[in-house]
This record gives sequence, structure tokens and C-alpha cells, in this order.
Amino acid sequence: MAASSEWQAVRRRGAARKGKLAQSEKPQAPESVDRGQDRRRITEAINELRCEDFWPEWKEILSGCQAETVDETVEGTDCFMECVCYGLGNFSSCVSARYQLAMLLLLLDALQIPVGCCSLYDPVFTESECETLRELGFTVLTENEEGKRAVCHPTLFYLMHCGKALYNNLLWKNWSPQILPKVTVIGNSFLGIQERTLQRQLERDYSFLSDVINVCEETSLPCSQRFLDVFNDTALIRFPPHKLRKLPESIWDEPSEPCYEHCQDLEIIQRVREPK
Ligand SMILES: C[S@@+](CC[C@H](N)C(=O)[O-])C[C@H]1O[C@@H](n2cnc3c(N)ncnc32)[C@H](O)[C@@H]1O
Repeated sequence: MAASSEWQAVRRRGAARKGKLAQSEKPQAPESVDRGQDRRRITEAINELRCEDFWPEWKEILSGCQAETVDETVEGTDCFMECVCYGLGNFSSCVSARYQLAMLLLLLDALQIPVGCCSLYDPVFTESECETLRELGFTVLTENEEGKRAVCHPTLFYLMHCGKALYNNLLWKNWSPQILPKVTVIGNSFLGIQERTLQRQLERDYSFLSDVINVCEETSLPCSQRFLDVFNDTALIRFPPHKLRKLPESIWDEPSEPCYEHCQDLEIIQRVREPK
């Protein structure tokens, strides 16, 4: 877990300070020194968030949701739930992204999801950030999935302040009344997205979001004034079967893959496509 690997890193730094480098240890390259600083800052951010009044509230909301969603571990692993994080941003240089990463680590710990069961992807991650994430035990994805990840097991998606197309793609890929209940999202409030977007644009470009907004279950996640920039407009979103049943049956038929060719302000980075 994060805590034990962080402890090992602290131990290594302690040895270096005392000039007791083991013979096999080489002086650190500047990049790995930066990584040490990144790790220290992440630990500090975790400690700060733990002292915030909203942390126990998040924990309670999330633990309650997990208890309802999961009743057995993912086959062949120790995970009760898998986790996927898209769009975290550059946590080395961006304070918001760093606090969001710290919150992710707190959540994984509270929900007893091993860090190795959490995969992350952001096309802007630097090589050094990928390495820090791997050192923390995360699985760093190398391909741009554009959010099109098919789930088999209960999966928590952590998408902080991400583009609408990521949510829409995720919904499309799991568009069935049997699968969607396995998807839990921590991300932008869907109701907030609806308020900020023209209805006709939502229906035309983000039809899966538009179809599901009125039947998903949304619980807003609180935050303090100090962390407004980091966690504002954040909600826990779920898709309970009894609510999905309110949708007409025909809505599930042959969902066609979203295409954003006509979108002028697409907020996500798409993968490079082979020319036709
Ligand atoms: C508005 S920023 C949010 C960054 C950070 N979470 C924050 O709140 O400050 C959206 C993030 O989504 C990332 N992103 C764009 N396309 C993506 C994709 N296809 N898969 C994963 N992340 C993507 C961007 O690189 C960017 O870091």
C-alpha cells in the first residue's frame, strides 16, 4: 500500500542524509530526486485531507455505496472493486491534481481496494509522473482508451473535472441495464453538466449522458471552502437497476459508438487514428 512504500522511501532518504548509502546504491538522477519530492508532497496532501471535515463524510458515503454494490471479491484477486482514474492531470506541477491523487489514495485505502487494482491514464502524464505512480503501486495504462472501458466487475471510475465525452464514452461502452449497475463514478455532477450544457447539444453529442441523467442516482460530495477548486461540482453517481427500468426498453438497442466529428469544443484528447 501507499503508506508502506512511502515509509520505505522515507527510510531510503534517511539513509542518504546520514551518508550511509549502501555500496550498490547510486547517487540519484535529478528526475528521481524530483520524484522523491513528488512523493513527499503527495503524503503531505493526504495528511491535510485527513484533517478536513469533509473527508469522513466522503468515507461514509463511499463505504455505504460499496456495501450495496459488492458482495464478493473480483475473481482471482483481493479486490472487492476495481478502480479506473482518467484525467487526473499533471500532479507534479498542479496542486489540484495532487490533492485529487491524494484523495484517490485515501479512498482506495478506506474502501480496501489494493492500489494495484487501480489503473490510471492521462495523455499529459510525464514519464516521471508515470514512474511515481508505478512506485506508489498503481497500474499506469499506456493506451488512450478514450474512456471506452468495458467493465466485468464492480468498478469505481474516478474522473475529476473531465470532459463530457469521457463520461459519454464510458456509458456507451457499458450501455446495458445489467452492466451499468456495476459502474460507479466519482466525477462531475451529471446534473451540473446538464445545467451548463444546451439541451440540444447534450442530446446530439452526448446522447448516452443525456439519456441517463434523469435516472441515475447522484449524491453530491461535500468539500470545504479551501478545496473548492479541487473538488467542486463533484458527485458520486450510480445506476441502480430499478431506476434504469424506467427507461424505455428500446433505448438499449444497438447503441452506436459516439462520434464527435462535428464537436467544435471536444474537451478530451482522442487517440491517434489510422487514416482510412
Ligand atoms: C480539465 S482537466 C482536469 C485535470 C484535473 N483533474 C483537475 O481537476 O485539475 C481534464 C483532464 O483530462 C485529461 N484527458 C483528456 N483526454 C483524456 C483521455 N482520452 N483519457 C484520459 N484523460 C484525458 C486531460 O489531459 C486533462 O488532464
